[in-house]
Amino acid sequence: MRNSIGTSVILTLFGESHGEAVGAVLDGLAPGMPVDEGYIALLLSKRRPAGAADTARREPDAFRIVSGVFNGMTTGAPLCILIPNTDVRSEDYAANAGLPRPSHADFTAHVKYDGFEDWRGGGHFSGRLTAAITAAGAILLNALERKGIDICSKVVECAGLKDESSFEEAVLKAKADGDSVGGIVRTEITGLEAGLGEPWFDSLEGALARAVFALGGVKGIEFGGGFALARMRGSQANDQFCVADGRIGTETNYSGGINGGISNGMPVVFNTAVKPTPSISLPQKSVNLETGAEATLEITGRHDPAIVRRISPVITAVTALVISDMLALRHGTDYLSE
Ligand SMILES: Cc1cc2nc3c(=O)[nH]c(=O)nc-3n(C[C@H](O)[C@H](O)[C@H](O)COP(=O)(O)O)c2cc1C
Repeated sequence: MRNSIGTSVILTLFGESHGEAVGAVLDGLAPGMPVDEGYIALLLSKRRPAGAADTARREPDAFRIVSGVFNGMTTGAPLCILIPNTDVRSEDYAANAGLPRPSHADFTAHVKYDGFEDWRGGGHFSGRLTAAITAAGAILLNALERKGIDICSKVVECAGLKDESSFEEAVLKAKADGDSVGGIVRTEITGLEAGLGEPWFDSLEGALARAVFALGGVKGIEFGGGFALARMRGSQANDQFCVADGRIGTETNYSGGINGGISNGMPVVFNTAVKPTPSISLPQKSVNLETGAEATLEITGRHDPAIVRRISPVITAVTALVISDMLALRHGTDYLSE
């Protein structure tokens, strides 16, 4: 029942949706990394619910770094970030206690934790915990930027639509119908050296997929040409080599910047498929976990009619974690310090 990721730079996640706080501990950080609280707040603001197309739960995300930072720099000791929960309405969940929401983690958590789980608002499996991941990831993202490595995530599809100007209306339409929609986030890492990633089982693709799949709502990931490569010929799909600015590169990037699990120096590109939010207000079938009888579930709480916009900075944050971990493995822990 571990809640950690990473080999050299390790993140441990804690908290529950309706508990006192959510938070993360980052261990294995180099001493002497600047910690810019304004930068953390900025990334958190991109994840925060904003308008009618997001949940009505409004958390200020007033984070506190309670260890591991002294005079604005990492000390090298474990860094703990706490984000208090302030806008909690557990009574929204009381009426449906014991009725697992279809396609949420309520049922699987109940089985795994033997009924001892905090089920309020999805408990430890709530999207709320991604605030802590985002805050921790921001510290690493900032350090990577200083090394010339940029990570950018963008919603490229929402409700099956590709035109960004139509996303909000589609989400609001689903919300008005008591429903929800999904989408696709595209992430690009630029400025990454060739040679990052381990062979076979700790491949860069595998490490990124593991981190991205940790996020609730993610059901697919494809690198470069992804599933479309299955329908191409080798002559179309192969990335032919070239020399540009005295550096070996490729003319196309269907490989998504990774071959043999190792970065090839081209931008690392991947798409993440995000499913529709499980909590919808339309009546759904559930089973009462006390009695074992089938039951109708009507959800009244506050939920995102689409997760895809809010998950985008979280994908950036976990990507920063993975890349930092891989760089520390290759070059040593102190690589990311100033
Ligand atoms: C930023 C973010 C916000 C989320 N908001 C909600 C929400 O309001 N309601 C909900 O039912 N699920 C929400 N989720 C999704 C659940 O956490 C997720 O669907 C659930 O854990 C099961 O996901 P899985 O079956 O894909 O693993 C959110 C996820 C993220 C990353």
